[in-house]
Amino acid sequence: MASSASASLTRRAPEFQAALLAWYRTHARVLPWRTAPSVYKTVVSEFMLQQTQVKTVLPYFARWLAALPDFAALAAADEAVVLKLWEGLGYYSRARNLHRLARAVAALPEIPRTPEAWRELPGVGPYTAAAITSISFGAPVACVDGNVVRILSRLTADATPYRDSASASKAFAPLADALVPAAQPGDHNQAMMELGATVCFRQKPLCLTCPVRGFCAGAARGDPEQFPRLAAKVIEQRAVTRLWCRRGDALLLHRTPADARRLANVHELPLAEHLGLGETAAQTGALLAKKRRGITRFQITESIYAAPAPAAKTKLAAGLVWVPLAELPQLTLSGPHRRWVAELLAREK
Ligand code: ADE
Repeated sequence: MASSASASLTRRAPEFQAALLAWYRTHARVLPWRTAPSVYKTVVSEFMLQQTQVKTVLPYFARWLAALPDFAALAAADEAVVLKLWEGLGYYSRARNLHRLARAVAALPEIPRTPEAWRELPGVGPYTAAAITSISFGAPVACVDGNVVRILSRLTADATPYRDSASASKAFAPLADALVPAAQPGDHNQAMMELGATVCFRQKPLCLTCPVRGFCAGAARGDPEQFPRLAAKVIEQRAVTRLWCRRGDALLLHRTPADARRLANVHELPLAEHLGLGETAAQTGALLAKKRRGITRFQITESIYAAPAPAAKTKLAAGLVWVPLAELPQLTLSGPHRRWVAELLAREK
């Protein structure tokens, strides 16, 4: 990292913090986990905000708090209820981890207060531990994610090439920590997040209105968009075949096992392999839909083929379930599958 730019920014830390915080006080979005905050609201919001934007999270957060208002209510809830409330937010292991976390916290004599103790809990990585403890307990630790890396790399016009965002986060952690004030570290961290989300955009950052423009080597050079220097992500193409299998008023779905990392206990249209079919054998019926979506570094094309229903007496493979259409609304489906199922059922009418 450009150590002289970093050292000079660190020397001006008090000035930088004051400018950032003054801006945050007047410009921060009013968000439900910021007004009347509690540890529980902070934890739920931080889990929901992992890989997800604020505007997507807002309705989920409101519904969640209404149904499960505190750690005790969440700890006592059934997993099906928890997953249903999460339906459509994606990355379902977050919901299961949050549920396990609530059970662990409910069993503790008191709530942990340090980043190290929080990192022992399910689903809590360095970013989430720093966010929770700085916001709730005033721990002076920085949250470092892609947004913060973008801001810091521009402030220092850092030309180091990084392999990926994890290694960039690691490289910027010392600078991020050096900039955190002892007083109100949670507001400082949220101000950095806010700056990343509303001013220091990946493309076309709003430098003219930026509260810390005077500290920014990237803006002074006139090319802030050049930073950070991150290697382009390698996108992998994947193709999968799914089956649309109807019998009477039921639809065949596959429920992912309880220990699946990405989508535990969530229903989806079955894959060819779930019915013991190879791709070619599964593609003999009509092609009903072709859907593309991106998940992490994969670009996935999902082809949905009509398939004959297995005979009524056939024993279904593990995970396959016939679901009466009337029960679909109560079931947890992943977001895209809920849309696809609705679309294909509407076509049958
Ligand atoms: N992203 C992660 N944590 C956040 C928070 N507390 N406020 C806004 N965006 C966030």
